[in-house]
Amino acid sequence: MRKRFKVLLAVLSLLVLSACAGSPAPDAAREAVVLGFSQLGAESSWRIANTASVKAAAEEYGFGLMAENANQKQEKQIDAIRSFIAYRVDVIAFSPIVETGWDNVLAEARQAKIPVILVDRMIDSPDESLYTAFVGADFYAEGRRAGEYLLRKADAIHAEHLRVAELCGTPESTPMRDRQRGFLDVVEKDDRIEILESLNGDFLRSKGEECMKTLLEKYGVGGIDVIYSHNDSMTLGALDVLEQSGAAPGRDILMITVDGEKEAVDALKAGKINCVVQCTPDLGKDLMELVRGLKEGREIPRITHPQEGVFCDFDDLTDPSVEGF
Ligand code: AHR
Repeated sequence: MRKRFKVLLAVLSLLVLSACAGSPAPDAAREAVVLGFSQLGAESSWRIANTASVKAAAEEYGFGLMAENANQKQEKQIDAIRSFIAYRVDVIAFSPIVETGWDNVLAEARQAKIPVILVDRMIDSPDESLYTAFVGADFYAEGRRAGEYLLRKADAIHAEHLRVAELCGTPESTPMRDRQRGFLDVVEKDDRIEILESLNGDFLRSKGEECMKTLLEKYGVGGIDVIYSHNDSMTLGALDVLEQSGAAPGRDILMITVDGEKEAVDALKAGKINCVVQCTPDLGKDLMELVRGLKEGREIPRITHPQEGVFCDFDDLTDPSVEGF
């Protein structure tokens, strides 16, 4: 009975999705697995590409997908997870906007015997049984890569003193915390590096612009040597402001960013950004592999990190492998 209910719901949800997407209705054989996915929002090109990756992979694997977008609101993610539990989906996946505040709803999922996969971001809870697996980037390693680039650059330009302003992502989110920690762990013992301040840009282009205006009013172009930004959206907002002010980003101020979207990689090639630390949004297939493993009753890896690297001005930027998403 429960199975029939699930199949019916899967069919209905897929029909709705198919109607929205204009794609053909699924055949009955494909509704054996239903995945509930709560995306945190659409704050950046990275996030939009990530949502597309999950949707495309669900389609490719033939899984029913109930996808909800929480528009940056934790309450909406909690509501979505509760609705997935009520629908009795097979697996719940979600990208937690912040790390805390999930214990109750995830305990409800566990009570309903629905496995939970964290996508992209982590939760902070002493109870490790609240989720089954995590798939996403190693943000701490990304922060370290940004710091390592800066020290290499400092050596190359024989810098004696570099003043760094940091544009931070959403407070209490995993990428914000870990990209900051990783970067600091590499640079803070180096006497040449001074962190001027860290501003919250919430991973948004508009806030990247605001932060850059604030920094320019306070320090002027000559008072900042490096911008370390936790994502491309904020970096691109900062670039707009710098260029409008007559500054030459990439030359007057070193620009270090994380993600690797096409616009940022193009700016790297144009000399306006110095270093792009890659963070792939393409997590869909890895997620579906985990879902399939769960459905087949296999043991699945607790942590899956995609392979990522760095593009920077030490590289041959004409190499065709240097490209954004
Ligand atoms: O959690 C991943 C981060 O979130 C990406 O770096 C950023 O662009 C997004 O908003």
